[in-house]
Amino acid sequence: MPEQGLRSGGMVAFVREHPSLRYVFFGGKGGVGKTVMAGAAAVWFARQGKRTLLASTNPVHSLSSLLGQDVFGRHQAVAGVPNLWAYEIDTADTIKRSKEEIKEKIKWFLKFADIPTRADDFVETAAMNPAFEESAMFENMINLIFEGRYEVYVFDTAPTANARRLLGMSRVYSLWVNKMLESRKEAQAMRLQLSFRKKEEKDPLLDYLLGFQDRIGKAKAVLTNADQTAFFFVTLAEALPIAVIRRFIGWFKDFGIPVGGVIVNGLIRREDVTAESSEFVRNRLEMQQGYMKQVYELFPDVLAEVPLFEREVRGVEMLDRVAAATFGAA
Ligand SMILES: Nc1ncnc2c1ncn2[C@@H]1O[C@H](COP(=O)(O)OP(=O)(O)OP(=O)(O)O)[C@@H](O)[C@H]1O
Ligand SMILES: [Mg+2]
Repeated sequence: MPEQGLRSGGMVAFVREHPSLRYVFFGGKGGVGKTVMAGAAAVWFARQGKRTLLASTNPVHSLSSLLGQDVFGRHQAVAGVPNLWAYEIDTADTIKRSKEEIKEKIKWFLKFADIPTRADDFVETAAMNPAFEESAMFENMINLIFEGRYEVYVFDTAPTANARRLLGMSRVYSLWVNKMLESRKEAQAMRLQLSFRKKEEKDPLLDYLLGFQDRIGKAKAVLTNADQTAFFFVTLAEALPIAVIRRFIGWFKDFGIPVGGVIVNGLIRREDVTAESSEFVRNRLEMQQGYMKQVYELFPDVLAEVPLFEREVRGVEMLDRVAAATFGAA
């Protein structure tokens, strides 16, 4: 039976125990407060003097609306928070560039294999696959990480299962690239045998795949490094969001991705509820407290209990309030 209650010291202690923490992610069911938590975390790190980037790789962005400032398409300093930048990645643009890049690779391949077909049809079909968009988002995230311009990166990830697929993809990529490499090497050996030319032709696709594999390896090393990376899971004290993060945490553990802990959001404060409060409020409080028991039974690392504020969370002032309630005094 796990010890019940907040993990001792909560988020402040977690960060103290992880002084190299650099890549921070928030996952959970749709609408539970992932973007709010990412924003609050980013403000919190920046307030401690860390050069911080709050980035969204999600095709449906909400950072501009959260911050009340346009941060689409470029790194923008966040007004009122020194050391904080925010950036919504232009996914459409990335997809366009990815398409061009892949078209080029397919052309190489077709040329190498002496197949007289146009690459465009292949690429258009490939780009219809939803995995293509996720793959582009993953690439964007990795690029930001590799640029290394910031001390802390807080990512506002896509809802539902995308985050996991994004990461699971690194494994699929490796399998796929290894297979491709094997067959490239075989094909190259055969061409050498069949051809009268003794000199090996340069194979740009093979070089590309090797480079790609190297990137994937490095990305995986970062994402599975428990000193540098942590995924936090946000839930409400309700059945469905709890079930969702329970599943997520299981998946992430399978992938060896470090789980920082659980944040419970949207709690009605007991001290705000009296016998005179409406039945609606009293019932909700009781329901939430019932689910909190479940939360503590299921998750040993509950890092924060965040109250439901009297209004939506928008703007830096609200984010500071959420940060104080979630992570403690900076
Ligand atoms: N503790 C809170 N108190 C009051 N409002 C909150 C709180 N947490 C979140 N909200 C509000 O709830 C709404 C949903 O939050 P948010 O956008 O962060 O969720 P999300 O998990 O990112 O959603 P999505 O899955 O759509 O990306 C927002 O309007 C936000 O302002
Ligand atoms: Mg969001």
